[in-house]
Amino acid sequence: MAKKAKIRRIAILTAGGDCPGLNAVIRAVSKKAILDHDMEVIGIADGYDGLIHNRHRKLEFTDVSGILTRGGTILGTSNIANPYRYPVKKGKKIKYQDVSATVIKNIEKLKIECLVCVGGDGTMAIAHGLMNQGVRVIGIPKTIDNDLKGTDITFGFNSAVNIATEAIDRIHDTAQSHHRVMIIEVMGRKAGWIALYSGVAGGADLILLPEIPYDMDIVTQCVKMRHKKGKRFSIIAISEGAKPKGGKVTVRKLVTDGSEPVRLGGVGVSLGDKIENLTGIETRTVVLGHLQRGGSPIPADRILGTELGAKTIDFIIDKKFGCMVGVVKNQLLPIPLDVVAQGSRLVPLDHELIRAARSVGTCFGDCHSLVL
Ligand code: F6P
Repeated sequence: MAKKAKIRRIAILTAGGDCPGLNAVIRAVSKKAILDHDMEVIGIADGYDGLIHNRHRKLEFTDVSGILTRGGTILGTSNIANPYRYPVKKGKKIKYQDVSATVIKNIEKLKIECLVCVGGDGTMAIAHGLMNQGVRVIGIPKTIDNDLKGTDITFGFNSAVNIATEAIDRIHDTAQSHHRVMIIEVMGRKAGWIALYSGVAGGADLILLPEIPYDMDIVTQCVKMRHKKGKRFSIIAISEGAKPKGGKVTVRKLVTDGSEPVRLGGVGVSLGDKIENLTGIETRTVVLGHLQRGGSPIPADRILGTELGAKTIDFIIDKKFGCMVGVVKNQLLPIPLDVVAQGSRLVPLDHELIRAARSVGTCFGDCHSLVL
């Protein structure tokens, strides 16, 4: 059998919104590449932006040592720099250009034999495009939203759930003292994984997800009924992308240079105003926002990040390119990028956790809970 040509130089970039565990991944990829295979590892600055503008540096062992517990990413990131739709300012206007040819030229100049792209759906879609143009790529699934196709979990998700749950616990105390309705708005544009998991873990009375449009009557009746039965407070966990039945998502701002055309936000405040008006019960809203993305990763994400990073190097050695390292039933498998690039992984309506939550009386805003 012909001997496989040795891979000598790889590059790694982190793109899209940051999340806890990115440094654990960078560390695992780089250390294993250097220690086990004597590869050179190039760290690309600020996601795909560094490939467009040629900003990178060689990662030595010492650069990736001592970063396991650190939040953020030592490489920097960008959720604007899409080589297929790169915003360029022309006077006061922004024009979009396809600069993928520059990216490919820079990858060739750098003699990169495999590009490791750590990111969410946007990052994987770009990696898929580069793969179709002949670049050897491997993706690693990152996002607090946990909404990537082809993997049961993304790193960063459990750390975000931890942060949101801790916040709900704290809000519980003050809600009880003041007999208020308290709403906690968490991230999740199309998929409600964070609201579902933190809502269940924090014992939220109502959990409102993008996948289950809520009925305002049911929400207010649930709150009123709790008051009537002596529970003079209610906790509502809501995703930023949740919407009322027949209504639309709450848009805070239209964006021209971002990866998404709209910036969501405000659904918690507008729901709070409605509840207060309709029930007469004082209602307050807390928006967790980017708090969910910062800080040290919890052990589960340090472990997952290390496993994903190490497996990526195995795939590179086996020349399994054009895939993402997916977690499927506790196994790390190569998932074709064609599969990953097929939209978001939403919470299935028959998800076991939704069923379990309903059975303990949690209301999802679509029908009355059994226990109030
Ligand atoms: O990638 C996850 C996410 O946290 C979304 O839930 C959220 O809408 C978005 O990123 C916000 O990102 P940014 O404010 O950095 O553009």
